[in-house]
Amino acid sequence: MAQLNPVFPVASSIPTSWLYESFRMANERERRAPSLIKLNVGEPAFGPPESVGRSLAEAVLDGRTRYIDVQGLLQLREALSEKLDTVNGIDVPPDRLFVTPGSCQGLVSLMRSMAEPGAEILLPEIHWPVHLQQALLAGLRPVFYGLDDALAPDPESIRSVSTANTRVLLLNSPSNPAGALLRPEVQATLYQLASERGWQIISDEAYEDFAFESPHVSIAALERDTAPARRRVSTVFTFSKGLAMTGYRLGYVAVARPEMCSAMRMVQESSIIAPSAPIQYAGLSALQAREALAGNHAYVRNNRDSVLPTLVDAGLLPALPGGGWYAMVDVSASGLSGEEFAAELMESEDVAVVPGSGFSARPEFAADGTLRPLRPGGMASRLVRVAFCVDHDQLATGVERLVALVERKGSNT
Ligand SMILES: Cc1ncc(COP(=O)(O)O)c(C=O)c1O
Repeated sequence: MAQLNPVFPVASSIPTSWLYESFRMANERERRAPSLIKLNVGEPAFGPPESVGRSLAEAVLDGRTRYIDVQGLLQLREALSEKLDTVNGIDVPPDRLFVTPGSCQGLVSLMRSMAEPGAEILLPEIHWPVHLQQALLAGLRPVFYGLDDALAPDPESIRSVSTANTRVLLLNSPSNPAGALLRPEVQATLYQLASERGWQIISDEAYEDFAFESPHVSIAALERDTAPARRRVSTVFTFSKGLAMTGYRLGYVAVARPEMCSAMRMVQESSIIAPSAPIQYAGLSALQAREALAGNHAYVRNNRDSVLPTLVDAGLLPALPGGGWYAMVDVSASGLSGEEFAAELMESEDVAVVPGSGFSARPEFAADGTLRPLRPGGMASRLVRVAFCVDHDQLATGVERLVALVERKGSNT
C-alpha cells in the first residue's frame, strides 16, 4: 500500500451546501409570496400511507419508546433482510444491517468507518453536494470521475482518475441530481475494477423505486455468491423517497463485510446511541404498505413523461432522465449562468429551482492537507436542477415559465 498524506478535515471549513442555501432563499421568498412554485426541493406530491402514521402513534402510546440495539430493532432488520433478498437480490443477514436516522446518516457512518488518513473516495463530477460534505467530514479526500452523455459514471474516467490511495468508489443510481441510471454492463465493469484494485463500493440507492428507463438493479446483487469476508459493496437505502417518509428520518445500510460492522457500531454508538424506536415501528408497517410504491412510481413517471418533453423540445434537456426525482436543465441559451437564471426565475416568475454550480464544486487542499474555502462552479454552472416529483400542475406551470424565461432572455442577448 502507498504512503498516504493526511487530510485534516475541520467541520467549520466545510460550508453548508448550496442546496441548503437555495432552500433557505426559497422559504424566505415563500413567506413574502406564498404562490411560489417550488421545483427546488425533492418533496413529493404524495404522502406516506396512513397506516404508517398510525403505527408510529401506537408505538408512542404503547410506550415502545425505550433505547434499543445500536443497529436497530431486530424485528425490523429481519423484515429488511427479507426485503433485500426478494426485491434487491442482496443476501444480507440482520446482523449486517444498520437502521439509521435517514440514509444520510447511514452514508456518514459508512464513510467514517471506512476512512483512514489520506484515503481517497471517488465521487461523480456532478454530485449530490451532501456526498461531498460527508466525504470531507469523514476525512476522505474526494477525487472526481467523469460522466457520459447521460451523466452516468464513465468507467474509463474512473480507471484513469483513481490512484494508489483510492479506497472507496461512490455510486448513486438513480442519481441525484441528474436522474442517471447505471447500466448493468457498466456495473459489472466497475465491480470488476473495484475487485482488482481492492476498493470498497458505497452504493447510494435512495431512489431505487424510481427507475423508469430500465428496472433498478442493486450492484451488491453481483456478489450474492461471494463469501461475506470478501464482499465490497455496502448499500444505503431510505424510506424517504418510495413512501414519501422524508420527515420520518429512516434509512438503512447493508454492510458488505462482517468485519466492517464493529467500526459502524462504534460510529453509531458515539453519534446516535440507537435510532428512534417508534419511528422503526412505523418502518415495519411501511414495509407492509409497499403496494403504495407502484402508485408513487407511476405519479413521478407520469410527471416525467408528460411535462419534461417540453424541456427536451426546447433544447434544454438532452433526454428524459432515466430515473430519480430530478432533471438537470441547461439554461445557457438565456445568456445567464445557472445562478443568475435561478435568481431571476424566482424573482420574476415565482419559480424556485437550484443552480447547478453547487453540484460540481471542487474542493482544493493546501499542501498541509487543510481544505481551502470551497467555491461553487465547474461543469454544472450552466445548469439548474428541477424536481419533478412535485404536484403535476405546479410542475407544468413551473416548466412553462422556465422555458419562457430562457426564450425571453435569449432573444434579448
Ligand atoms: C442521493 C441521495 N441520497 C440520500 C439522500 C438522503 O435521504 P434521507 O436522509 O432522507 O434518507 C438523498 C436525499 O435527498 C439523496 O438525494
